[in-house]
Amino acid sequence: MINMYNDIIELSKRRGFFWPSFSIYGGFSGFYDYGPLGVLLKENIVKLWREDYLEDGAIFIDTPNLTPEPVFKASGHIDRFSDLACECDKCKTKFKLETVLKYNGINAVPKNLDEANEISSKNNLKCPVCGNIIKRVYDFNLMFRANDMYLRPETAQGIFVNFKLLYNYNKNRLPMIVGQAGKGFRNEISPRQSLIRLKEFNQCEIESFFDPDSLEFKELYDYFPVKLLPNTGDVYKKTVKEAYESGIIPNQAMAYFVLKTQRLLNKIGIKNEMLRFRQHMPDERAHYAADSWDAEALIDDEWFEIVGIANRTNFDLSNHGNNSSESMTVKIGEKEVIPYVIEPSYGIDRIILSVMSQSFYKRDNGYNVLALNEYVAPFHMAVFPLLKKQKLQEKAKELFSNLFPKDKYIIYDDVGSIGKRYARQDEIGTPYCITIDFQTLDDNTVTVRFRDSMQQKRILISDLVSQENPLSALNALKIVQ
Ligand code: GAP
Repeated sequence: MINMYNDIIELSKRRGFFWPSFSIYGGFSGFYDYGPLGVLLKENIVKLWREDYLEDGAIFIDTPNLTPEPVFKASGHIDRFSDLACECDKCKTKFKLETVLKYNGINAVPKNLDEANEISSKNNLKCPVCGNIIKRVYDFNLMFRANDMYLRPETAQGIFVNFKLLYNYNKNRLPMIVGQAGKGFRNEISPRQSLIRLKEFNQCEIESFFDPDSLEFKELYDYFPVKLLPNTGDVYKKTVKEAYESGIIPNQAMAYFVLKTQRLLNKIGIKNEMLRFRQHMPDERAHYAADSWDAEALIDDEWFEIVGIANRTNFDLSNHGNNSSESMTVKIGEKEVIPYVIEPSYGIDRIILSVMSQSFYKRDNGYNVLALNEYVAPFHMAVFPLLKKQKLQEKAKELFSNLFPKDKYIIYDDVGSIGKRYARQDEIGTPYCITIDFQTLDDNTVTVRFRDSMQQKRILISDLVSQENPLSALNALKIVQ
């Protein structure tokens, strides 16, 4: 088995992408910090998401993390946002019930606490840690509570409760696309695999509001085929447009957001052969969803949900309309409707882990490479003096300060040997290294070294610094090399 995951975890901590939070106090599972490079990578991904949805006329808001109880009473999260859980009386370990069922070789998926108790009492479930028989099965609400407030488990509700203000801002027009990037919080019973299941995580959510009689958005276009797993058990490799035309994806707006998500994930660096869209089985859907398609990415040999695309119907708006002072009805011509919502919800932490592991490889000499593309790489280019000689350092710093006003994602490095510096930049995903050497002092040329091919090309400094966008100039060089 290939194991990129462990390499990524090790690299991330050593190089400053991400690491477990509060580790000097022993660490607390489910919390991770982003380090200096992780912050840049994360912001680049959020920027791509925002710009991609601006193309669709999206508007964005920013609402509080702490949310009053009535909001989650109406949204169904207080009553239904829970996992079936169990606890061992002896070793006190808490588990998701599904983990214990799997460990005990039981294939059942209980739908509620009664069914869970029945299965548990019939089967003498053994604790996976100490082997004791587990007696206590319970419903565990996943929200963190603070007095009469809750930390939001999704950013979406902040958009739904503001629907009328946003609709007014949008000049009373549908479809209306609203986005929010922010933190989500879930008291996960068993946080796992670093960024995969966190208690505090980063979401970029889009709520798109439609006339229920017209779940249609912009025209679908031809794009690369991708693996599609509808809940009929069939498996297809088709373009999303073909999947919609042949009825595999049931409505046009859903197909549009699946296609958009595929294209955005590709732009971030997720590969089509390591991406699939899987439709939820009816008993797997969240309490608010009538249909859901997950974008799943391959990390090593395991598929992980990274984006959830749900048809939330008018579940949320109707409930807020019924429980607050605001009617969520809008007038479209002669009819009054409560809009339907299609929601692509992007988990940024899981996208980061996926793109890092899918971009990672080892050269024959064992050195690591993170082949991030220029849209997401923390730095576009690095500038080095070949040796730590004053004249070379001065010239390299001069080049750095001439490039910096045009591209802030540039780093100067003169620590260690040139070989070590190339290796360091390869490992953090920098596509280009520019080296000042003794020839530079004579003829004002530098070497550009390309991360992926490791080839080098000599160019005039003036050809680089005269460009408005030095990165584009380097990209053009790469194409003709
Ligand atoms: N508003 C809909 C919603 O929250 P979801 O499928 O529960 O849907 C959307 O979450 C995305 O958020 C997931 O695809 C995943 O990438 C991310 N996510 C959810 N829970 C997470 C957790 N505990 N840790 C890290 N990411 C999580």
